[in-house]
Amino acid sequence: MLWLIILLLGVTACVFYRVRRRKLYEIYAQLQVRATCYPVIGHTYLMKNSDGDGTVWFKSLGRLAIENGGVISAWIVNKLYLVVADPDTSEVILKNCMEKGYVTQFIRTMIGNGSIFAAVDIWRPRRKVLAPVFSMKNLNEFVKVFDKQSMIMADLLEPMAGGADFSVWRYFNTYTFDSVCETTLGIDLNSQKNPEHKFLIAFDFVSQELAKRMVSPWMYPEFIYQLMPRYKQFDYHRKVIHDFVDEIIKIKLQQLSTCPKGDNTDINGTEKTFLDMMIQSSDRQEKKYSDLELREELMVIVMAGTDTSAVGASFAAVMLSRHPQVQEKLHHELDDVFGNSDRALTVEDLPNLKYLEAVIKETLRLYPPVPLTAREVTNDVKLPSGITVVNGVSVVLDIWAMHHNPTFWGADTEQFQPERFLEGPLKHPLQFQPFSLPMRNCLGYNYAMMSMKTMLANMLRRYRILPPSHMNERELKEPLKVTFDVMMRHIDNYEVRLEKRIK
Ligand code: HEM
Ligand SMILES: *[C@@H]1O[C@H](CO)[C@@H](O)[C@H](O)[C@H]1NC(C)=O
Repeated sequence: MLWLIILLLGVTACVFYRVRRRKLYEIYAQLQVRATCYPVIGHTYLMKNSDGDGTVWFKSLGRLAIENGGVISAWIVNKLYLVVADPDTSEVILKNCMEKGYVTQFIRTMIGNGSIFAAVDIWRPRRKVLAPVFSMKNLNEFVKVFDKQSMIMADLLEPMAGGADFSVWRYFNTYTFDSVCETTLGIDLNSQKNPEHKFLIAFDFVSQELAKRMVSPWMYPEFIYQLMPRYKQFDYHRKVIHDFVDEIIKIKLQQLSTCPKGDNTDINGTEKTFLDMMIQSSDRQEKKYSDLELREELMVIVMAGTDTSAVGASFAAVMLSRHPQVQEKLHHELDDVFGNSDRALTVEDLPNLKYLEAVIKETLRLYPPVPLTAREVTNDVKLPSGITVVNGVSVVLDIWAMHHNPTFWGADTEQFQPERFLEGPLKHPLQFQPFSLPMRNCLGYNYAMMSMKTMLANMLRRYRILPPSHMNERELKEPLKVTFDVMMRHIDNYEVRLEKRIK
């Protein structure tokens, strides 16, 4: 009798499983990628990288998606994935699916339940606290910090002018790190001049370690990673970061408890930071943030804000070095706005730097720092094509492919042409989405644009960027060699030369 019950239960479970799987097979049949599906591994072999180029898989799957009308499906072992290269489908997925994929799980070892990779029920209330913190009123105050920090950067670049090939990465990365830390925590780390700061060293280590883990699937499972010798080092640096941020929070909360709040400045007369605003913003919600929640959300801003903008600005510098006419036009714009003056750049200048903005956007189009994002489908969602996707399907939003899709960008999609963004509206309002799309899009897009504009403007007021001397004409016309870990990166590490402008 018992056996019969077990058998019946087993059969029922199997039927349920088959029905669910059948839906997945139906979706697969409608959108299948034109590539052999092998037993067990499915299409996993399409993910392999050739010659250390970590971008091959999302470029080739993206191209296949474009050929198939914008979406394809593929089996990664036993999981069904959609790859989306069409803006309308992307919009529907991003509006209806808020859960992120498994692959990013281990980043939570660094930021805990921090909003950016948190499960939906944790993310939702946190987004409510975080969103108002990024108001334009708040961001406008930060331009002073961007200006100060980028003037320091321009000074530090002086010895490079007229000299040999060098990488802008260190300069741009410490600029963004210093400005993000100052606007978030209210601390001027001065890592541009003092690269030995323990917070910077720990932050660099952790970023590189997470990137390494991202491209090493065998290091994904937590219990395996914790057995590896490198885990000890990771753990050590993580603690340095957490202690540093916790100390700042502690001091801030003490200050706030002993002094009444000012309006736009804190008690030291310094500008309000993300930390101040986050405390205020969470006070307005039902439940105040604990110290841990504050730390997690501050970590999200520092981690989401630093390398992304540094990558974006560095690619822009490389593109300018290879397109002298574009740079010439940009120099004209800067001269129109600033003349010969060395005055500070202010928030009022930013809307006048229209061509610079187009240059940055065109760079983000061709080399999006975050070339893809992912979602899990948890409820039935009807795609524009009429196909309904169901719980259990995973989606890769292929931002890179959308930005290279000739259907929207035309036959010259591979050309660097900032003018695209100045000649009236784009063909499709969503064909450009380097910051993803609501509901869970980047909160820092205005911040990022303002920071990158300020630093590139202050740099280009003083210098001309030239291509590295060892490259010939032909090489300079080719697309940049890039790779991917948690972000897109330039294989030649953003190498350029610099020349002082004579005014
Ligand atoms: C060029 C620079 C940047 C790019 C390309 C970029 C891109 C992105 C992308 C693609 C996402 C994920 C969206 C998704 O999965 O749908 C994201 C999330 C996020 N970014 Fe950025 N970002 C940049 C700079 C910044 C900066 C400077 C900050 C903060 C100062 C920031 C804060 C955030 C936050 C808080 C999230 C999480 C939003 C959420 O999950 O609710 N980002 N960003
Ligand atoms: C995240 O939140 C959940 C639920 O509140 C909790 O169980 C878990 O321990 C938290 N994770 C981390 C890493 O803090």
